[in-house]
Amino acid sequence: MDQVLSYIASNHPRYLEELKDFLRIPSVSTHPHHRDDVQRCARFLADELVRIGMQRVECVPTGGHPIVYAEWLGAPGKPTVLFYGHYDVQPAEPFELWETPPFDPAVRGENLFARGATDDKGQVWLHVKALEAHLARHGRLPVNIKLLIEGEEEVSSRHLDAYIDDHAEDLKADVVLISDTGMYDYEQPSICYGLRGLVYMEIRIEGPCKDLHSGGFGGSVSNPLNVLSGIIAQFIDDDGRITIPGFYDDVVPLTDAERRAFASLPFSEEDYRNRLGVGALAGEKGYSSLERIWARPTCDVNGLLGGFTGEGSKTVLPSKGMAKVSMRLVPDQNPDRIAEAFETYVRQLAPASVNIEVIRHGTGKPMLTPTEHPAVRAAATAIEKGFGKKPVFIREGGSIPVVATFKEKLGLSTVLMGYGLPDCDAHAPNEKFNLKNYYRGIYTAAWFYSEIGS
Ligand code: BES
Ligand code: MN
Ligand code: MN
Repeated sequence: MDQVLSYIASNHPRYLEELKDFLRIPSVSTHPHHRDDVQRCARFLADELVRIGMQRVECVPTGGHPIVYAEWLGAPGKPTVLFYGHYDVQPAEPFELWETPPFDPAVRGENLFARGATDDKGQVWLHVKALEAHLARHGRLPVNIKLLIEGEEEVSSRHLDAYIDDHAEDLKADVVLISDTGMYDYEQPSICYGLRGLVYMEIRIEGPCKDLHSGGFGGSVSNPLNVLSGIIAQFIDDDGRITIPGFYDDVVPLTDAERRAFASLPFSEEDYRNRLGVGALAGEKGYSSLERIWARPTCDVNGLLGGFTGEGSKTVLPSKGMAKVSMRLVPDQNPDRIAEAFETYVRQLAPASVNIEVIRHGTGKPMLTPTEHPAVRAAATAIEKGFGKKPVFIREGGSIPVVATFKEKLGLSTVLMGYGLPDCDAHAPNEKFNLKNYYRGIYTAAWFYSEIGS
């Protein structure tokens, strides 16, 4: 490993410049006008994988954005790691809130600012660089590795399931490794063993067939926006409990041991409150903030559309309204059952005086990964060597639906070893990656592959 570590150490500046080049490509998967950029980004990544000596590098076309696949299988008898990541990013809007342009990466202080810096291009690139170091110094890797890096994670991995079905043989491995989560805190590396699932719904309500004078007609027909907000207002009760019938039926309660483990992590509700700029924290009664984020389900309006929102006033009775609602799920809630229960509930709450349409967008299953797996031990050792500090075990509130898919379709457990920070602003303006963690991540990844190999 000395050779590998010294190779990394002598390449810090180049490793940074290359990551910047990767981040300059606006691989925004949801925007059709970035289609060519997403394609170019896949190509850029694939070319680099060829350059470092990976084998069978492919940019696989899908019905959407390409999947980048590569492998190196020259270590017979050693385990095979399936690394998963994504090279697509969230949209950068609103642009005006960025201090420097989102696709013009800039270093300020310890951080590299750019869309995708943490989520997930920076975390993908650090693995590529760790593999490069092994290959450059030894001409080989200490394990067999398959890389699956997709371009549609931020749009619910639309074509990934089909790819996994079609390539189940090719993707055979011993364990999945993902770096797309966060660290518990600055200077506190972590292994994540649980993620929430997701159901994303849209409600459309139509009242009168056209906008009406709110004086000439108001009071005689249902106002779709009144109805919509009335429905939404009933989703959560005074105790912070979600009122959808059957919603909690499959929720596995937190064990006392797990509650103690969460409570043993350093966490100040007061600092958390201050950091978020709220007068008081809120949520389901009887649970701490960590419990609420990591192990309890939610129902949140993500956006509302309708009526007059311009300057000044306009007396209008709008003809329609729309809401986007997401629910984060915890084990063993089933996304399809929850979507069903949501739709039934919304329809039941709506009066006959409006037309209602309920649309289902992406879904993803919640999951817990084993903490006793040998690969988890390898990850813990690697982190200790890369960071000089033992990891803590955490759960997180975000979703990576493919983790459940890997388990179901390939029988594989996943190790989540991520390097984001609580203030990295993923999905928000001024996303950043702490460069100390970028480099430590490279050493940690290099150690991980070597640990797994032995
Ligand atoms: N990297 C995140 C997932 C994540 C976020 C894990 C926070 C842990 C903490 C991923 O890129 C993401 O944004 N996932 C989406 C899933 C959705 C698009 C299906 C999410 O969680 O909203
Ligand atoms: Mn991500
Ligand atoms: Mn994301």
